[in-house]
Amino acid sequence: MFFDEFEGDEYGDDRLVKSTKGEYDAEENALRPKTLDAYVGQSKVKENLTVYMNAAKARGEALEHVLLYGAPGLGKTTLAHIIANEMGGQLRLTSAPAIERGGDLAAILTNLNEGDVLFIDEIHRLNHSVEEILYSAMEDYALDIIVGKGPSARNIRFSLKKFTLIGATTRAGMIANPLRDRFGIVCRLEMYTPEELEEIVARSAKTLNISIEKEASREISKRSRGTPRIANRLLKRVRDFATVKGNACVTLEDARYALSRMEIDELGLDETDRNILRAMVEKFDGRPVGLDTLAATVNEDAGTIEDVYEPYLLQLGFIARTPRGRMILRGGYEHLGYRITEEQKKQISLFDKDEN
Ligand SMILES: Nc1ncnc2c1ncn2[C@@H]1O[C@H](COP(=O)(O)OP(=O)(O)O)[C@@H](O)[C@H]1O
Ligand SMILES: [Mg+2]
Repeated sequence: MFFDEFEGDEYGDDRLVKSTKGEYDAEENALRPKTLDAYVGQSKVKENLTVYMNAAKARGEALEHVLLYGAPGLGKTTLAHIIANEMGGQLRLTSAPAIERGGDLAAILTNLNEGDVLFIDEIHRLNHSVEEILYSAMEDYALDIIVGKGPSARNIRFSLKKFTLIGATTRAGMIANPLRDRFGIVCRLEMYTPEELEEIVARSAKTLNISIEKEASREISKRSRGTPRIANRLLKRVRDFATVKGNACVTLEDARYALSRMEIDELGLDETDRNILRAMVEKFDGRPVGLDTLAATVNEDAGTIEDVYEPYLLQLGFIARTPRGRMILRGGYEHLGYRITEEQKKQISLFDKDEN
């Protein structure tokens, strides 16, 4: 399975903000832009990468190793394809959980050719023995293997072809320093603006042969939590509703109807987001709550809350991360229509600088 297309953030079920393997395969790939020019937004990342890639090409060298980090669906895998494409190397895709033993990684590395790009998704989940092998591979393009046991054990060094490693992660903080230090290029992907998402939706609609009114793609973009994958997915679901109604062109009304049927509100929050906010008010009365406690309360995986839900709620300023846990802020209360009590107000002012 190493070199298969691998989707890093499958969470098993079919909720909108998560990816599902089935949907990913053909269609998500078809929607990936193939060149840096077609890759919408992320202008800083694009500008820097262009410089590094051109410089490497001019020197006839492999591009330095690249670490991409950002929330699921922001375009890490897509960017890896583009980099390999622009550098003219083969892309090999794998993910950290799929590499169980050092030998697995050694097999992958020895099969790489000069200028190939190895993409390791969820690189924060590499186990330690595998990670150690990666160090010399990244630094010296060498593979250190211990042969034999006990006193007769010897270290044998194999040399590798000059390749580029691209690591992707949703958790930059979980990467060990020695590994992080070996990436010459570190890119952080940001959430997309509604205008950028509109461009992505329009482009995807064209690729998928969907005719859609401008107002309808704008509506989808506004509710996509700054995330291209979600924008594309909403587009497809909205199209389904319009098709069933027998509409050839997706209208604003179709989009609004479909989104409300999916319980996506005007800011793009879904039922789980609202459950998280509600629990913070009703179960914890606006006091800070630890991630694991919160996760257990809303019956959701802590990692999923951290990767998928929290970034957008933080971005909206609806919640804050405090030293004592997560807590809801004024915007969160107001979005759900709660009246804020005096006690809750006090809690907010302890942690939200803007309140004072
Ligand atoms: N900058 C972008 N421009 C256009 N489409 C994008 C962009 N970034 C991501 N996408 C779309 O979003 C989908 C998810 O992107 P992906 O690279 O798989 O995200 P990640 O690997 O970060 O989870 C892809 O199908 C791609 O079509
Ligand atoms: Mg990915």
